[in-house]
Amino acid sequence: PFVVTDSCIQCKYTDCVEVCPMDCFRQGPNFLVIVPDNCIDCSMCVPECPVGAIYNEIDLPPEQRHFIEINARLAAHPEWTPITRSQAPLADHENWRTVANKLEFLKL
Ligand code: SF4
Ligand code: F3S
Repeated sequence: PFVVTDSCIQCKYTDCVEVCPMDCFRQGPNFLVIVPDNCIDCSMCVPECPVGAIYNEIDLPPEQRHFIEINARLAAHPEWTPITRSQAPLADHENWRTVANKLEFLKL
């Protein structure tokens, strides 16, 4: 499956959700994830993300591999709900889009 990684945190542009034929995306307050069991590896979401946050699991950079487990875990979180229509990015997205290692800011 495909995996959402660090760059999405605190930005959440949501362009990705519109193109997914399987409605894979689930959202929390400042990040979203892909339901691994629903993803058919079509790759349509990848070019939609303006910060390049989405990878095929097999192409993940080593420093992003922990997001496989994070996507799977948060996809099952009862308060992380489906999102299929894009919405405005988070208010402070411009200040966060080039920041790395944002996991400590992830809200559940
Ligand atoms: Fe959806 Fe395709 Fe992206 Fe998987 S790869 S999350 S099926 S758009
Ligand atoms: Fe996140 Fe990129 Fe989608 S920032 S919400 S993965 S378009």
